[in-house]
Amino acid sequence: MQDLDAIVNGALAEFAGIDDADELEQTKARYLGKSGALTEQLKGLGKLPSAERPAMGARINAAKEILEQALSARREHIQNARLEFKLKEESLDVTLPGRGSGCGGLHPVSRTLERVEQIFHSLGFEVADGPEIETDFYNFTALNQPENHPARSMHDTFYLADGKYLLRTHTSPIQVRYMESHQPPIRIIAPGRVYRVDSDATHSPMFHQVEGLWIDEHISFANLKGVVTDFFRRFFERSDLQVRFRPSFFPFTEPSAEIDMSFGEGWLEIGGCGMVHPGVLKNVNIDSEQFQGFAFGMGLDRLTMLRYGVNDLRLFFENDLRFLRQFR
Ligand code: PHE
Repeated sequence: MQDLDAIVNGALAEFAGIDDADELEQTKARYLGKSGALTEQLKGLGKLPSAERPAMGARINAAKEILEQALSARREHIQNARLEFKLKEESLDVTLPGRGSGCGGLHPVSRTLERVEQIFHSLGFEVADGPEIETDFYNFTALNQPENHPARSMHDTFYLADGKYLLRTHTSPIQVRYMESHQPPIRIIAPGRVYRVDSDATHSPMFHQVEGLWIDEHISFANLKGVVTDFFRRFFERSDLQVRFRPSFFPFTEPSAEIDMSFGEGWLEIGGCGMVHPGVLKNVNIDSEQFQGFAFGMGLDRLTMLRYGVNDLRLFFENDLRFLRQFR
């Protein structure tokens, strides 16, 4: 039979050198397991003379106690070491600079709108608003386009299912709404989304317009030309920019014109305008003998494309960050 003290000392030395929890448990089995060294000692008790058994039994139990204590001390040690290691491994350096949350930017068309509003504001224009879902009355009828007027076919209109409402095809209905509730002098611009059944590189079913309206006692076509020309020169920051008024037709203005601006060698159509038709003023109870004025409408997306040199309108509405980031 092996010497008890030698077993205990051997075990303690072994335990002390183990840094792995599994290995410790396996080693424990070699001493305290079913056929472990200490267990064998207990089994051997029977072979001793009965007088020696109690003392030897007590010694073995004391030895077991010592090993159990050493084991739990070592277990704790291994666990602490592991925790220590994990803490070190996963440590956060709270003094590192943050990553930041990333800054958004204004959409290029919104930038254009801000610019347009700023310029017109400096000319004394206020900003008016109106609904995108309109009635036939405000979008067409009140603008001098009765039911069967051929001008209605100029726009391919999105009608809502009930046939009563439609998506406004231009910002001109805001003119009507504003004049219904205000008497001259009136000086507004009205920006917003408009909708037409149209889609290609230069047309989108949804796009943006800005309407202008100035009604007072002595407003003439000369004022219209002055305001529009001044606007374009300031918007594009080119004092030599030329603006051309090409005779045209709109049912709600008379005379009417297309607005073209010089662009490289040629001209580019950028909007429509004219003197507000007396019939429209009559529809909103403004005395057309005393008051008259002009209106214009232009495409905000078109202005944005020209200002930034964008050649496909659809880029504005695809929300591709690679495109949008360039305007931050
Ligand atoms: N509403 C017209 C269009 O969308 C433009 C316009 C506005 C023309 C105001 C004259 C006066 O085509």
